[in-house]
Amino acid sequence: MKVKALRLRDFRNIAGLEIEPCETVNIIYGENAQGKTNLIEALWLFSGMKSFRGAKDAELVRFGAERAGLSLRFESGGREQEAKLTVTNRRTASLNGVGLSSPTGLIRQFRAVVFAPSFLSIVQSGPGERRRFLDTAVCQTLPAYPKILTEYQRLLKQRNAALRDPKAESRLEELLDVLDIQLAAAAETVAKARIGYLEKLSPAAEAVYEGLSGGREAISFLYRTRFGNDNGTYLEQLAAHRRTDILSRTTNVGPHRDDLEICISGASARLYGSQGQQRSAALSMKLAEAAVLHNETGEQPVILLDDVMSELDARRQDYVLNHIEDRQVFITCCDPENFKRLTGGRTFFVKEGSVF
Ligand SMILES: Nc1ncnc2c1ncn2[C@@H]1O[C@H](COP(=O)(O)OP(=O)(O)OP(=O)(O)O)[C@@H](O)[C@H]1O
Ligand SMILES: [Mg+2]
Repeated sequence: MKVKALRLRDFRNIAGLEIEPCETVNIIYGENAQGKTNLIEALWLFSGMKSFRGAKDAELVRFGAERAGLSLRFESGGREQEAKLTVTNRRTASLNGVGLSSPTGLIRQFRAVVFAPSFLSIVQSGPGERRRFLDTAVCQTLPAYPKILTEYQRLLKQRNAALRDPKAESRLEELLDVLDIQLAAAAETVAKARIGYLEKLSPAAEAVYEGLSGGREAISFLYRTRFGNDNGTYLEQLAAHRRTDILSRTTNVGPHRDDLEICISGASARLYGSQGQQRSAALSMKLAEAAVLHNETGEQPVILLDDVMSELDARRQDYVLNHIEDRQVFITCCDPENFKRLTGGRTFFVKEGSVF
C-alpha cells in the first residue's frame, strides 16, 4: 500500500494543498498548531474508519466552509486507485469514480495503522482499553469475530438481567445452570480468538521492541483472566463465583473482565514503565499490528505516526526513522533535530495549513 498523492480542500485549517509523498519515510514537521496532525488525520480517514481523535464529521470542515474535499491516489494490489471523501456534517466516499454507500466501504481497500499519543492509554489506563485494542485488531483479521463478540455480549446481558430480576429469584439457580453453559462456551471462543491474535502479535512486537531498545529490554504479553489463568475453565470460574455474582448482581468473570498484561523485562509496563518505555511498548504494538496485517493480507499498510518522537532517545528515534523497512511511513514532529538522522525519505514543512 503506497500513497501517491493527497489533495485536500477546506479540511480543518488546510484551505488547499497537494502533496506527493515518497515511498519510504515522510516527515511532516512544523511548529505547534500548524496542521501536522490534520494531515495525518486526513490520510487516516481513507481507511474508512472514524477520526482517531474522536472528531465529529462537521468538525473536519474548515471554519466558514461548507464542505471538505479529500482525494487520495494510492497503489494497492499492484494497481493505482483513487479514493475521494466529501465531508459536511457527514461523510461520503467514492472509489475509482464509483460512489460507495458508506465510507466504511473503504475498509480493506486502503489499509493504514495509526499511532497517536492517545494510544499510550493502551499501556497506561485500565483493562478496557486493552480489550478494545484486541477486539478491534481481531476484527481486522477474523471476519467472523464481530458476530462471536456480539453473541457473548448478548448472553452476558441476559445473565446480568437474570441476576437483577427479583421475579427470577425462585428459579435463578436453574436459569443460571442453563445460561452458564452457553455463556462459558461463548467466553471460550472470544478468549481463544484474542489469544490467537496475541500469538501472532507477540513475536512481531518483541522484534520491534528489541530493535527500539537496542536489545537492552524485552517486551512480553500475557492474556490474563480475572481470577488467574490456572483456575480452570470459564464454566468452572462461573460456578466458583456464582455466590458473589448473585450478591453483587453482576457477572464477575469472563472475557469482559479479562486483561492483557504488557511487561517490559518482566515488570508491568503500566506500573513500572518509564515514559520512553511506555511509548516504545505502545509503538511496538502498533508496528506489530501492521506486521500481522501484512502477513494476513499480503499488503503492507501505510504507517501513520503522530508525535511519536518526543520522549524517545536518539537510539530509539533512529530506529523509528531508519528501520521501518519497505513500508511507507508518515511521521510528524516539531523539532527538525529529530530527523537529522534520517537517511533518505522526504520532508514536508507545515505552516498555517500550507505545506512547503
Ligand atoms: N475545522 C477547522 N477549521 C479551521 N481550523 C481548524 C479546524 N479544526 C482544527 N483547526 C485548527 O488546526 C490547527 C492545527 O491543528 P493540528 O492538530 O494539525 O496541529 P499540529 O501541527 O499537529 O500541532 P501540534 O504540534 O501542537 O500537535 C489548530 O490550531 C486548530 O485550531
Ligand atoms: Mg499534532
